[in-house]
Amino acid sequence: MKKIKLQATTTFGLEAVVKREIQNMGFENISGSDGYVEFETDYSGMAKANLRLRSADKVLMVIGRFKAVTFEELFDNTFALEWDELIPKNGNFIITGKSIKSHLSSVPACQSIVEKAIVKKLQTKYDIRRFPKTGAEYTVQAALLKDTVTITLNTSGPSLHKRGYRHGQVIAPLKETMAAALVQLSYWNKERIFLDPCCGSGTIAIEAALIGRNIAPGLSRKFAAESWDFVPKEVWQEERKKAYSDIDYDTELKIYASDINAHAIEIAKVNAENAGVDDCIAFKQIPFNKLELMGDYGVCVTNPPYAERMGELDDVERLYRDMGKLFSKNKTWSAYFITSHEGFEKLYGRKADRKRKLFNGNVKTDYYQYFGERPPKK
Ligand SMILES: C[S@@+](CC[C@H](N)C(=O)[O-])C[C@H]1O[C@@H](n2cnc3c(N)ncnc32)[C@H](O)[C@@H]1O
Repeated sequence: MKKIKLQATTTFGLEAVVKREIQNMGFENISGSDGYVEFETDYSGMAKANLRLRSADKVLMVIGRFKAVTFEELFDNTFALEWDELIPKNGNFIITGKSIKSHLSSVPACQSIVEKAIVKKLQTKYDIRRFPKTGAEYTVQAALLKDTVTITLNTSGPSLHKRGYRHGQVIAPLKETMAAALVQLSYWNKERIFLDPCCGSGTIAIEAALIGRNIAPGLSRKFAAESWDFVPKEVWQEERKKAYSDIDYDTELKIYASDINAHAIEIAKVNAENAGVDDCIAFKQIPFNKLELMGDYGVCVTNPPYAERMGELDDVERLYRDMGKLFSKNKTWSAYFITSHEGFEKLYGRKADRKRKLFNGNVKTDYYQYFGERPPKK
């Protein structure tokens, strides 16, 4: 099968998590930079990456990469790419773009040049003046960085965080891809107790359950490249089949999710049911200060209120103090908190063992990591 280069885009700060996922899937020639990881594979790998990547935003197919400081160079190099092999006569091609530290700084002008070059190339194959754009969607991106242009096609369609299980609104939900990254950045494994005591719509607990059961997060959704003629239809069927056969229905998971808000718990339960993991998670409405830790060597991963977007500052600060008190009672527990509140460590009562800068949407946050004692070897 034809070799292709894919680019998995990520939220800044999550590149290493996505790289590890890509390595674990056995992909080759992995490289990357801020906001993305690239690797080589074939069309089966395209389907596999879309279905299984947990923390990446999108999987783009790299069509070409070249230097351009003039519109002529942008046009000629874009025209030289194999658009006539990729986009059919009725293909709905949409051009997006971005430009950072490049001579060609006007994004609309670059988009227009790229569109003209693609149209001209397609006209070498199809005798047509205006393309109807009534067929499958081909979203082309021209990304300029320091005068290097990377032309990609978005194979995913809507971002991979749209798994399809989340319904109903809670305040400040975490993106599914970020929730999966927080779990993957922790030392949790399916043998250990998992707790999210401020679970909101349940995203972190649900992503932990998907990981624990080895359920590919993209199994319930469609991807843009499934409608493309040049990608064999069988690869999607085969990769879906493999993903289903890899699901581990047998391991009993000990995942607990609670929240002060009854409505959030109702929504979380429905979301877990939609994701097919309601049997793995015990949900409970309970305020944090009434919570007791059950068992040893548990892992808490949580996204408490920050007071920036929700919650009163006094309540939030009291909650952080309560969190420090509870986890200081049992040294075997590990606890992980994502928050933008810069006073978190002081309120919690201890400096984190590790801190990682992350963007939760546009909000600059830190991921505070407190490591408990290691569980005894079995
Ligand atoms: C930022 S939201 C969590 C969003 C969640 N990660 C999601 O994806 O939907 C914070 C949650 O903490 C809950 N919360 C606030 N104070 C609490 C407390 N004292 N005890 C337990 N939960 C609390 C809120 O009800 C809210 O659902």
